[in-house]
Amino acid sequence: MSEIDVSVAGRLSDRVAIVVGGGQTPGETVGNGRATAVLLARAGATVVVADRDRGLADETVAMITAEGNQADAAELEVTDDDQHRALVERVVSDHGRIDILHNNVGVSIAGGDADALELDPDTFDRLWQINLKGVWLAARHAIPVMREQESGSVVNISSMAAKLAYPLVGYKTTKVAMLGLTENLAATNADYGVRVNAILPGLMNTPMAIEARVAQGTPREEIIARRDRLVPLGRRMGSGWDVAHAALFLHSDEARFITGIALQVDGGQGLTG
Ligand SMILES: NC(=O)c1ccc[n+]([C@@H]2O[C@H](COP(=O)([O-])OP(=O)(O)OC[C@H]3O[C@@H](n4cnc5c(N)ncnc54)[C@H](O)[C@@H]3O)[C@@H](O)[C@H]2O)c1
Repeated sequence: MSEIDVSVAGRLSDRVAIVVGGGQTPGETVGNGRATAVLLARAGATVVVADRDRGLADETVAMITAEGNQADAAELEVTDDDQHRALVERVVSDHGRIDILHNNVGVSIAGGDADALELDPDTFDRLWQINLKGVWLAARHAIPVMREQESGSVVNISSMAAKLAYPLVGYKTTKVAMLGLTENLAATNADYGVRVNAILPGLMNTPMAIEARVAQGTPREEIIARRDRLVPLGRRMGSGWDVAHAALFLHSDEARFITGIALQVDGGQGLTG
């Protein structure tokens, strides 16, 4: 799907954003995290693109600066508490504040996820470390800065896998747990003016979703056609841009009275479950 042709200029003027997992799995289309980083920067935010793969973060920063917008890259392994602390300290030192924390990292097939009776215990633990603990660690360091400012927006990227039947147990359970974490953080930080919401992407045409399945041996056209058919709205998957625009809304002042929600961005797939 192509980009959405609307002007977003000025909606996040003077804001400082951290996009965790703002690189992307290599592939032909744009990922959710990269599209979000690019869009937040177009809206006026200075975006710190954090990723465990510094090269992928650098690519996103290059796309942003090529459009004349502001960004810099940081290497971050989301399971490492010290790295989160150092990143937050660096962003505050470089940019003076943190208005937006966008938690995009999530792994499933590429992380060795499997059916509940086949998954090995170490992989189960690793998926929970990356998909859930990583989000909590990011929040644990960024939210105190937001509390001090008495404002801030956190968005956690869950998945419609949390709502619908999904065969891989690590992804399913972590994405459900992320909704609980979102509600907990929203409830405990509302008094400080900090909003915390989740987005549940449905079937998106992103490299993360497509390439891992191609690598398992299914032809690309077959994967795309099968996923397209499952989406009520237009019988076509969404794109990283659809998630990015939902994220821009939740991070913007237009959502100032919204906290603790789980926003489905799924072309109506949830209606079929
Ligand atoms: N693509 C879809 O169809 C779909 C559907 C539902 C939900 N989602 C969710 O969207 C999010 C990701 O979408 P995307 O398209 O941006 O994926 P992506 O794989 O393109 O980007 C994720 C980025 O996270 C980074 N990353 C992975 N593990 C990390 C770690 N341990 N520490 C730091 N960085 C790490 C990767 O290097 C990558 O650059 C995930 O939370 C995923 O569960 C995607």
